[in-house]
Amino acid sequence: MNSVLVLNGPNLRRLGTREPDVYGADTFDDLVALCRETGRRLDLHVDVRQTDDEAEMIGWIHQAADERLPVVLNPAAFTHYSYALRDALAQRTAPLVEVHISNPAAREEFRHTSVVAAVATGTIAGFGLISYVLALQAIAELLAEESRG
Ligand code: DQA
Repeated sequence: MNSVLVLNGPNLRRLGTREPDVYGADTFDDLVALCRETGRRLDLHVDVRQTDDEAEMIGWIHQAADERLPVVLNPAAFTHYSYALRDALAQRTAPLVEVHISNPAAREEFRHTSVVAAVATGTIAGFGLISYVLALQAIAELLAEESRG
């Protein structure tokens, strides 16, 4: 079974209490359950993690590069300014899907820039927690395509 890392940046553990008008009422535990359930359906082993720490996130990205693991990444605020994260992601050895719960393009101007988008396989934004389901589906399709050669 293929493994996928689902990595979440700062403040995302506070889902459910954090700006529910923007990010919805579901909690981080609900997100973990949704990703695991989607993984079971798609035959993927899904490892969901969250950190508020840029160094820890970069360590996970290095692990993914070394172990050729596909990544679903919500970089949260790191999206908009972390060149260190972008440089780590540029070393990727497997598909990378950038996800956002909200649609950053429809929000404040500073959210319109993603410094990581150019090194991702693609981006899914604006579908609430469904963004993660769509990202895992994309990874499953890409892996199936790869194994067909
Ligand atoms: C976010 C959007 C970012 O602009 C914000 O900093 C987040 C969450 C999203 O999932 O919609 O923390 O990545």
